[in-house]
Amino acid sequence: MSVDHKVRDLSLAESGRHQIRLAEHEMPGLMSLRAEFGDSQPLKGARIAGSLHMTVQTAVLIETLTALGAEVRWASCNIYSTQDEAAAAIVVGQGTPEDPQGVPVFAWKGETLEEYWDCTEQILTWPGGAGANMILDDGGDATMLVHKGKEWEAAGQVPPTDEDDSEEFGVFKAVVRRTMDQDPQKWTKVAAEIKGVTEETTTGVHRLYQLAEAGELLFPAINVNDSVTKSKFDNKYGCRHSLIDGLNRATDVLIGGKVAVVAGYGDVGKGCAESLRGQGARVIVTEIDPICALQAAMDGYQVAKLESVLEQADIVVTSTGCFNVVTADHMQQMKNKAILANIGHFDNELDMAGLAKVPGVQKQEIKPQVHEWTFEDGDSIIVLSEGRLMNLGNATGHPSFVMSNSFSNQTIAQVELFTKTDEYIDEDGKPEVKTLPKHLDEKVAELHLEALGVELTELTKEQAEYLGVDVAGPYKPEHYRY
Ligand code: NAI
Repeated sequence: MSVDHKVRDLSLAESGRHQIRLAEHEMPGLMSLRAEFGDSQPLKGARIAGSLHMTVQTAVLIETLTALGAEVRWASCNIYSTQDEAAAAIVVGQGTPEDPQGVPVFAWKGETLEEYWDCTEQILTWPGGAGANMILDDGGDATMLVHKGKEWEAAGQVPPTDEDDSEEFGVFKAVVRRTMDQDPQKWTKVAAEIKGVTEETTTGVHRLYQLAEAGELLFPAINVNDSVTKSKFDNKYGCRHSLIDGLNRATDVLIGGKVAVVAGYGDVGKGCAESLRGQGARVIVTEIDPICALQAAMDGYQVAKLESVLEQADIVVTSTGCFNVVTADHMQQMKNKAILANIGHFDNELDMAGLAKVPGVQKQEIKPQVHEWTFEDGDSIIVLSEGRLMNLGNATGHPSFVMSNSFSNQTIAQVELFTKTDEYIDEDGKPEVKTLPKHLDEKVAELHLEALGVELTELTKEQAEYLGVDVAGPYKPEHYRY
């Protein structure tokens, strides 16, 4: 039977398969979870709708989930982040491009916004009527589709398009309107099937806590982002690698000696600032939080307001998860040919809509995902990935080894939530958002030590008693910050 799919080109599958094979070697966490759980099949019966960048590393995650018994449908969570050869290899699976036998994927690099939301709908719509019963989300778009869809179905209509709606939200509303015309109960039925969601990133987790606080969360969630082995590794060391990769592939500009501004000194910002400094840039940080500002200062960076340093900056990178951090006014004050990029989850960190409305501004494509915007005075700035996350738009995202940590957390979280759903619902029947227990976080780290030749010291029984912990861990209290 053919596999449902919409990808760029299935003939890319062979190249994708070679890359996946090499990635598996760099993803010891995922491979050992396959070995540990392959026989017991804890995800048998799980129908996972995955919305996460369709990269080579994600391919290894998908094949881990299926090895544990899950059925999976996949879309990317960003219009530019798909690696087309990875998508093709996952669809083809053990088959051939003529007779694909893998996993349904709906993703290609360079989707339109309409196509993006159509793909998200596809992963939640399963053939034969049974819906997805688990979501694996990155940024919360699949979760938002189910929540807003159900809310608007209950209200009997999608709210009319508002002039304050972003282009993306306008497109989203149109897609929900269409699905409601086809089946006015579609999302209500989908929501009823879903046991839970595991969420990958800071921005998506933020949305989940907001829903839970408002009493609107429809199913329980595991916050994968705040596993220590996720946010303190992927967000930091992952971005330390892939920010520079994106800048180089997009512009190949020499970074040494330049002035680089990093907006936001959270986990992502810390990795970005370190990598820019590593290349010899003079790095300036902007922050709103006094603690993070002090950290940046003690790490040796100048901390300033964007307005004070904009005119010196050769490179500006946003990593805040906030919006309108760089406005159209800021952009016009930037140096001629300065580079502007966002590595936070959504494109609204940069006011791209405002930039397009600047009188007389001209946009020239230099190459895909690299655009020069020229102002009336003749000065221009180079904007990467149209303001979307540039490490996936201009490069290939984080490397396999760090993603093995993140995706081991994802896999364990899917197993936890699918097999122990009740433990994530409170006494009053309200779905909760929780992180994974610490022993599982420590387990993920442990799965990655041998590959790096790490020798771990073992506590003696007496030492463990002295510290008040178990010899086998967990080694730190919940409030420890790493
Ligand atoms: P975080 O919460 O640790 O850090 C964000 C920092 O930005 C905070 O310290 C906050 O105080 C600061 N901030 C907020 N508004 C600001 C403003 N207007 N000006 C200056 N600073 C401001 O979050 P984290 O984990 O660093 O993630 C940041 C973003 O990156 C999120 O959207 C997240 O989803 C995304 N992300 C992207 C990845 C990628 O591969 N591109 C990987 C991981 C996360």
